[in-house]
Amino acid sequence: MQDHPSGLTPAAIEDLRQRAEAVAQSSYSPYSHFRVGAALLLTVGDSTDQKIVTGCNVENASYRLTTCAEQSAIATAVGLYGPGIKLHAVAVANLNHAASMPCGACRQTILEFSTPGTWIFYPAENDMPAEAALTDLLPAAFRLHQD
Ligand code: THU
Repeated sequence: MQDHPSGLTPAAIEDLRQRAEAVAQSSYSPYSHFRVGAALLLTVGDSTDQKIVTGCNVENASYRLTTCAEQSAIATAVGLYGPGIKLHAVAVANLNHAASMPCGACRQTILEFSTPGTWIFYPAENDMPAEAALTDLLPAAFRLHQD
């Protein structure tokens, strides 16, 4: 089978999806009961060594202090590997058999550590796997330009 435009093989994409689903088991979501997991495929600095880091959503009684799975995974990845992480792919999964794309805030957080070809893999309706380039999910993104 042909490789995906992300450069990932179908098997690597499936592995990332499965890791996202597995970590969703750890979700702390007593309010929404929406159990989400995210798996990041990343490299660090100039290294070509690929690493996978996962995270799940962690809710809070205040609701607004909830951390999404993608943000949780990214915070963990920076803690483990430092500020030079480069996200090549992000897989999102949930245990609710629902469609779920990264929310707007997560897209902006992914952008922070993105490459020109960061891909997002997510569940669409009826558990159908779907995918999109981050640049298509977040066009005209905010970027900080300072003198
Ligand atoms: N959630 C995520 O973990 N990632 C997203 O991109 C969208 C939403 C979580 C937050 C909250 O715990 C639950 O899903 C319902 O919104």
